[in-house]
This record gives sequence, structure tokens and C-alpha cells, in this order.
Amino acid sequence: MTRPPDQWPVGGSYTFGGRQGRMSPTRQRAFDVLVPRYLLTPHDAGSLAATPISDAGLKRLIVEIGCGKGEATAAMAPGEPDALVIACEPNEATIAHLAWLLDAGDVTNVRLWIGDAFDLLAVLEPHTIAEVRIWFPDPWPKPRHAHKRLFTPLRLGLIVDALAVGARLRLATDDLAYAAEALAAIDAEPRLRGAVVPRPGHRPVTTFEARGLRAGHPAVDIVAVREH
Ligand SMILES: C[S@@+](CC[C@H](N)C(=O)[O-])C[C@H]1O[C@@H](n2cnc3c(N)ncnc32)[C@H](O)[C@@H]1O
Repeated sequence: MTRPPDQWPVGGSYTFGGRQGRMSPTRQRAFDVLVPRYLLTPHDAGSLAATPISDAGLKRLIVEIGCGKGEATAAMAPGEPDALVIACEPNEATIAHLAWLLDAGDVTNVRLWIGDAFDLLAVLEPHTIAEVRIWFPDPWPKPRHAHKRLFTPLRLGLIVDALAVGARLRLATDDLAYAAEALAAIDAEPRLRGAVVPRPGHRPVTTFEARGLRAGHPAVDIVAVREH
């Protein structure tokens, strides 16, 4: 599957909203001083595609779409020392927060992609990613916003293109309707086999998940494997 050349962004619209979070003075400092240390530029991503990841002493490339404040990113990456995690997020204020967490925790295997994750997938070599993870994506529940959801056939196809055979797509959501829609999209993608799985213990409970739990909406975890 290839992105239609005249279609930008993918699917004709972004999957994120236009609002930036509040850039407090602390976050602004983190953005100015810390973000550059972790930033992955399109040029870096191009060289990443040209250099097998194993040459850098890392075995796995993980892409997280929509890391938000990065609570899960910063908590999980230290337990995955063999992986390079690229955390994608267009919101500069929350990316600044993640950079602060990475610096405070001395986390060295995370890079930040500021912008649309599909722009990153477009510059990476196909079949190179060991895991794409999406924690609590915006469900865009209103029918008029359905085109912004991540699990459209076009967007899902582009994600699968980027996955190596045997690699995984992981999703957590506290929205049952969204989980059902994602499973249906996964079933309809011939290269994927997916299922609901028990909550993985190493995924931390983030502010987002805690809010869902308080509202009586426990998370559903889904894993899909690229079979061919
Ligand atoms: C509901 S928030 C969840 C954040 C985080 N994963 C968590 O669990 O706290 C969804 C995030 O995904 C980001 N997002 C949505 N589409 C994206 C895309 N195509 N590329 C990068 N980030 C995206 C949004 O900006 C938003 O911050």
C-alpha cells in the first residue's frame, strides 16, 4: 500500500486535534534545552532507514504513535534496552514534558519525532519496525470526525507496510466501540492477525488510563501480528 501522492496528510486529514497544550515556562525551558538532545529529524530518520538498526547495537525499532506526555514511553523504555523507541507527537508542550522525563530518568533509548507519525513512516524503510504501539488514541467518536480515526484501511495499511513480518501492532483503549472498530479493521487487513489480550503488566497506568478507570472504563489491550 502506498500513500496517494497527492494526499497530504494521509487520508486527507490529521488524526490529532489542532490544540497545543499549555507551554508553561518550565516546559518551554525543557523544549528549548532538552528536546534537541532527543530530537529525531527527517534527516536522522532517513539515515536510520539507511543503517540497519542492529549496526547501532540495537535490535528493535519501536514506534509509538501519539505519546502525549510520554508517561508510558519514559516508564517502558528502560526495560527495553535492546530497542530504540521513537515517540511521535505533534504537541510541543507534551513532547517537552517527555523530554523532561527522559532527562530526569536518564533514559537513553528514546528519540522524539515532533509531528505526524505518518510522516515518519514515510521516511523509514518499509518492513523495518518491530513494534508500533498506540496507547489511548483519540477515539474521535462523532461520526463527522470518523475520517480522523487511526484505524482506517489506508492508515492501518501504511502502519502494516512499516512493520517487519512477525512484528506487532499494539493498541490500548478504554473506548469499547473504538476497540471493536479497531479489531474489525485488523480482521479486514489480510496481513494481520489480531486479538484482545490481557493487560500487559509492563504498560504503566497513565493519567489517561487512570481517568478511564475512575469513569468505569477499563482499558482493552489488542495485539496484532503481521503474518506476511
Ligand atoms: C488521547 S492522547 C493519548 C496520549 C498518550 N498515549 C497517553 O496514553 O497518555 C492521543 C495523542 O495522540 C496524538 N496523535 C494523534 N494522531 C497522531 C499522529 N498521527 N502522529 C503523532 N501523534 C498523534 C495526539 O496529539 C494526542 O497527544
